[in-house]
Amino acid sequence: MDVVALLKGHRSIRKFTDQPIDDELAESIIRAGLSAATSSNLQGTTVIRVRNPETRAAIAELAGGQTYVETAAAFFVWCADLHRSAVACEMAGGEFRPGMTEHFVIAATDCAIAAQSAVCAAESVGLGICYIGGIRNDPAKMTELLGLPDQVAPLFGLCLGYPDQDPAIKPRLPLSVTLKEETYDESGDVAGIEAYDEQMRAYYHERTNGKIDRTWSADMSALLGKESRPHMRDYLQGQGLNKK
Ligand SMILES: Cc1cc2nc3c(=O)[nH]c(=O)nc-3n(C[C@H](O)[C@H](O)[C@H](O)COP(=O)(O)O)c2cc1C
Repeated sequence: MDVVALLKGHRSIRKFTDQPIDDELAESIIRAGLSAATSSNLQGTTVIRVRNPETRAAIAELAGGQTYVETAAAFFVWCADLHRSAVACEMAGGEFRPGMTEHFVIAATDCAIAAQSAVCAAESVGLGICYIGGIRNDPAKMTELLGLPDQVAPLFGLCLGYPDQDPAIKPRLPLSVTLKEETYDESGDVAGIEAYDEQMRAYYHERTNGKIDRTWSADMSALLGKESRPHMRDYLQGQGLNKK
């Protein structure tokens, strides 16, 4: 398998066939993900597989009506988890210091790395995936639905299934913008972004038969020009995370 070609060929899948995923295969994919490097061997990731159709429907709705949360063969919620390591800390006679932002950064980083490794494993066997950050629209409800304890936060969902569509690969920013030598030299960034804007405009035109005229800069303006999920700080602090 040409892994580099596999990674470069990634595209999110939002339409899946009815074909189920064998439980053993799903477990093997998650196990592959959890084999990724983990900071200080903390293993700050918990994956919750949601099978219950009612829970899946509730998550699809709170994520903004993302129906593929319901229709994907499998759906997993990836959580940053310091709870279990806090238990271990106390089992070893230590005193857990809750609320350190650094600990949350470690767990969130671990979780994202493990998830993406699972994604590579899934894509390598012909499955399609879509991450679902929309679960953070209502993290308190997610916490209730999944029975999450203190020190655990749901970061994103992951739909997994056999693709029923073949979308084009979405271009990425040119390396002249995202790969720098030695220091953060941004002298070429504006030109690189302009070139990418034109590439994205063409991509959206092609994908929507000319109906959508959008650029990356316009997307960033829409995204970053307003507050985004401002409940997150209070939610995380309510879970005992990110206090200092
Ligand atoms: C953490 C994360 C959260 C995401 N959340 C959503 C989501 O809620 N819904 C969705 O349709 N796509 C979601 N995506 C997919 C991105 O929109 C997609 O990866 C990006 O536009 C690039 O497109 P590509 O994956 O097809 O290359 C998410 C991706 C990541 C990494």
